[in-house]
Amino acid sequence: MSEIQSLDDVVARATAEIEAVESEPELDSVRVAYLGKKGVITAQLKSIGSLPVEERPIAGKAITSARSVIEKLLKTKRQALLQIVHTKRLESERIDVTLPGRRNFSGGPHPLTRTLMRMQEIFLSIGFDIAVGPEIEDDYHNFEALNIPENHPARAMQDTFYFPDGRLLRTHTSPVQIRYMGTHKPPIRVVAPGRVYRCDSDITHTPMFHQLEGLVVDETTTFADLKGVLEYFVSEFFEQQLKLRFRPSYFPFTEPSAEVDISCVFCHGDGCNVCKRSGWLEVLGCGMVHPALYKDVGIDGERFVGYAFGLGVERFTMLRYGVNDLRLFFKNDLDMLSQFK
Ligand code: FA5
Ligand code: MG
Repeated sequence: MSEIQSLDDVVARATAEIEAVESEPELDSVRVAYLGKKGVITAQLKSIGSLPVEERPIAGKAITSARSVIEKLLKTKRQALLQIVHTKRLESERIDVTLPGRRNFSGGPHPLTRTLMRMQEIFLSIGFDIAVGPEIEDDYHNFEALNIPENHPARAMQDTFYFPDGRLLRTHTSPVQIRYMGTHKPPIRVVAPGRVYRCDSDITHTPMFHQLEGLVVDETTTFADLKGVLEYFVSEFFEQQLKLRFRPSYFPFTEPSAEVDISCVFCHGDGCNVCKRSGWLEVLGCGMVHPALYKDVGIDGERFVGYAFGLGVERFTMLRYGVNDLRLFFKNDLDMLSQFK
């Protein structure tokens, strides 16, 4: 019975050692010490052969039961260790679902971009195409081909930014008329949006602003068509019937010419500083294409007639959104711009 007694000691020692273990590698060395090839229990099993035959079954039973006790303890401890690792991991990866989420700051198109998109949509819906031209222009397209020869007083109507080499920042979108007619044959129906530049600044003028040019050339085009299209466009754009005023005017590239005013939405015609006390805001220039423009671009001026207009995109935006200072569009003030989302 001495082996059995000492087996109890072995089991007690193993139990204590397993309990004290704090990691899997430690636990494994305990396993090796008892159950490994050279372990205590294994040695006991090997020694059975040296016992008297009648004692062997009892000793064998005792040793295997001690082994299974130790195996069970090892297994339980292993699971406990795994549980600790698991809990630690859960702890470290804990997500606080009550934390405020990350906010998405969504932007939106600039009010002028929105206006330009809206204008193009309206014209596209009535059969116009879109054309574009360069912002850095030459004297020929910006002036000369538009019937504004050198020293013509009309050049002083628009204060021009020049480059040293004589090129310039286009002062209006009208040069696109020349470029488009040079590459397309009538019938022509286009609008050309874009930036233009003038040395000019107050609450209704900025050095850079946007225009939308319109050009229609066909065999039976009339001033009444021009008026009809503009009236349709304005009522679509503002979604209300605003008062339009056609004033006889002068542009070297149209004949006859007119400037069109819209009744001031800020003072409803009473007069304020936006409309300069007139009750009206000048939004566009227009007229019938001057026959002189057709010569250089090879269009038969006897057969074709056209109208053109150039409107101020900022003015339309101010009127639509009730912005009373044009310069606000270019300050990049997010509080102001975010109102247009
Ligand atoms: C022109 O620029 C002509 N090219 C328009 C035209 C085209 C006439 C085709 C006939 C045929 P004007 O300089 O008047 O015209 O400018 C047209 C519009 O641009 C004005 O009615 C106004 O709404 C706007 N505008 C002019 N200057 C400024 C400025 N500095 N800031 C903001 N808008 C302006
Ligand atoms: Mg003008």
